[in-house]
Amino acid sequence: MVRAAITAVGHYLPEDRLTNADLEKMVDTTDEWIRTRTGIEERRILKDPQKATSFMAIEAAKMILERKNIDPDEIDMIVIGTVTPDMLFPSTACLVQTGIGACNAWGYDVSAACSGFLFALSSGVRFIESGHSKKVLVIGADKMSSIIDYTDRTQCIIFGDGAGAVLLEPAEEGYGILDSVEHVDGSNWSILCMHGGGSLHPASHETVDKKMHYLYQDGRHVFRYAVQGMADVAAEIMERNNLTGDDVRYLVPHQANHRIIDATARRMGIEMDKVMNNIQRYGNTTAATIPLCLADWEHELRKGDNIILAAFGGGFTWGSAYVKWAYDGVPGT
Ligand SMILES: CC(C)(COP(=O)(O)OP(=O)(O)OC[C@H]1O[C@@H](n2cnc3c(N)ncnc32)[C@H](O)[C@@H]1OP(=O)(O)O)[C@@H](O)C(=O)NCCC(=O)NCCS
Repeated sequence: MVRAAITAVGHYLPEDRLTNADLEKMVDTTDEWIRTRTGIEERRILKDPQKATSFMAIEAAKMILERKNIDPDEIDMIVIGTVTPDMLFPSTACLVQTGIGACNAWGYDVSAACSGFLFALSSGVRFIESGHSKKVLVIGADKMSSIIDYTDRTQCIIFGDGAGAVLLEPAEEGYGILDSVEHVDGSNWSILCMHGGGSLHPASHETVDKKMHYLYQDGRHVFRYAVQGMADVAAEIMERNNLTGDDVRYLVPHQANHRIIDATARRMGIEMDKVMNNIQRYGNTTAATIPLCLADWEHELRKGDNIILAAFGGGFTWGSAYVKWAYDGVPGT
């Protein structure tokens, strides 16, 4: 069976930083509260109103093309996880296709909130495994600042902007994405959603007045489900593949809250020094968190490392992937 491997990683982070000290001036909060409850110290914000999610996704994709010295017309397919597309349609994938000049590529967006990258990855993997595609760009990108109410202290402290990308190619035997698990359960859709702007509540004066174009979240309840969901799905993939904590080189968890990450690692029996965690610097970038972690740790990864990816998000959506890393990162990069 042909498997798919991640063969390159790219990313884009806006330069502007929104620190906890900045937020103290905007809403009734403290650096101490934010750090102890979430682990976040600062986030990146794409301030230019002319630039949106596709801009960040294009930059992340271009990094891969440059690093791998690939011609854009070699890309067969582009799959993008995002809940902040530039517009409802066309898809962000279309904008990225033209932005990088991938004249032979097709593609689409995947709406799975914080599981967006994992679900997009799963989708891309299947097209490689079936022999349909040879080079697939999988991107997680979100401009969360476009849907956050910066007067609401319960939401604005959490989210940031960014994009991460990976290239999938047919794997050398024994390497690549060896297994994945995906779940959705819509019964709790209303505790983490954006009410306005869709066909149920199209934009109107009323939807704007009622702040329905901002992310809505009942944080306390989402927290409970997220702890359970991330830990369950990570345990599920480890059991299916007879892995113990000792076998795993890195856990790559969605960066929602350091307490959710800690709970997942504990359940898997993985020490914290084997957990990728950059929430302090970027906050929750929704679909971008997992590839942004891979970008930050790529130089440390070695061919054959066992990596577990795990995510939980609005929908609810949640999932996990078992990856046998396919190449040596370059130390110091
Ligand atoms: C949002 C979240 C950080 C809040 O942390 P929490 O420990 O659950 O806090 P609570 O919501 O119970 O609020 C505790 C108190 O702090 C207050 N508070 C909320 N935000 C605050 C802030 N930024 N600064 C200071 N106080 C704040 C609340 O009003 C509440 O006060 P009260 O007890 O007087 O009512 C946490 O619930 C969380 O991370 N949830 C998951 C979010 C998530 O991951 N979403 C993405 C999808 S995976």
